[in-house]
Amino acid sequence: MVSPAFADGAARNSPAAATAVAAMRRPIVVNFVISVCSPYVTSQSNGELDPVCVRGFSLNGTICIVIRTKLSVKRSKFEKTRPIMTNPEPVFTDPLFVMQGKSVLIVGSGGFGQHIAKTLSERGVNLAVFDLNPNSLKALSDEAPNIMVGTVDISSADSIAAMIDATIARFGRIDGAVNATGVLRTGPAQSLPIADFRQSLEVNVTGAFELSRQLATTMTPQGGGRIVHIASVSSLVSNEEYAAYSASKAGLSQLVRVLAREWASQGVLLNAIGPSMADTDMTQGTFSSEEKRAQALSVIPMGRFCEAEDLTGVVLLLLSQAGCYITGQTIFVDGGRTLV
Ligand SMILES: NC(=O)c1ccc[n+]([C@@H]2O[C@H](COP(=O)([O-])OP(=O)(O)OC[C@H]3O[C@@H](n4cnc5c(N)ncnc54)[C@H](O)[C@@H]3O)[C@@H](O)[C@H]2O)c1
Repeated sequence: MVSPAFADGAARNSPAAATAVAAMRRPIVVNFVISVCSPYVTSQSNGELDPVCVRGFSLNGTICIVIRTKLSVKRSKFEKTRPIMTNPEPVFTDPLFVMQGKSVLIVGSGGFGQHIAKTLSERGVNLAVFDLNPNSLKALSDEAPNIMVGTVDISSADSIAAMIDATIARFGRIDGAVNATGVLRTGPAQSLPIADFRQSLEVNVTGAFELSRQLATTMTPQGGGRIVHIASVSSLVSNEEYAAYSASKAGLSQLVRVLAREWASQGVLLNAIGPSMADTDMTQGTFSSEEKRAQALSVIPMGRFCEAEDLTGVVLLLLSQAGCYITGQTIFVDGGRTLV
């Protein structure tokens, strides 16, 4: 809804707007007219209403508008000609996103986890990074020696407990955690080994559940904390031969919703990020031919695969003050993949 103050301002700017505002003082339905027009009105450099935009007709004293498709065309034109972002400061200097001095545990130091660790390390976060595979940890500690590293098996409750204890012993608390572990087992459903299906659930869902509840137990006495799981577009879309992975990622997204609801009053906020396909170790060998790769690309409206860097903004959002009222969500970072 447009406020009367905005409407009066628009009326001062142009005769066409004044006509619309005068109409607004008639019965309440007219407010709807201005409400629908408001994105358009604000997008005009000269403040004028497009005659097509305000085209309506009278029906029992009601004014209706026929403009939905028109709006999107006009908006995109506007975005090309007038920059929307005017703040020249990099986002991470905004106090809402500051992470300096926080303690964060990252579980999984593969393609995505590695990038998230570097991003947070650059922002002065006290970091503990754990993975099943010590090789990826070595690469990380060689590059950033101040990061605490260790091994963990997320499918073992004892191993998770030891990891949390070690992190608390080092930093005293855990403000946030990112779970970037995962396994991808694919194949035709009828011949997929049941062990592959079980392992997908064991690591991607049961591991995430055990990790979340041990973290919540640690975070609750601190007054709360943030937990972020990496889900996938497979939480939502279906792909042939992805039965095990998709079932596990959909399960993870729903798990996040339930736990978020259960722990919201304790200040423990849980969310998931749903990336589209990225070139990491996990996806090596996914495509048997260039044709299959091109086919996978063709269903991403932005025309490229995800890169680890694409997750930076949403990770900072979900771990920082900026995300203080977001819980239970899976935020898709997917170039539009889930729209197709
Ligand atoms: N790469 C993609 O295309 C893609 C797309 C969407 C979502 N994801 C998800 O992002 C997350 C990170 O994937 P990635 O692309 O960085 O893959 P990756 O293979 O590079 O990293 C996954 C990491 O998880 C670790 N891991 C596996 N099982 C473990 C266990 N039991 N205990 C502890 N660590 C374990 C592996 O050692 C590896 O380092 C995963 O959850 C994945 O499903 C990946």
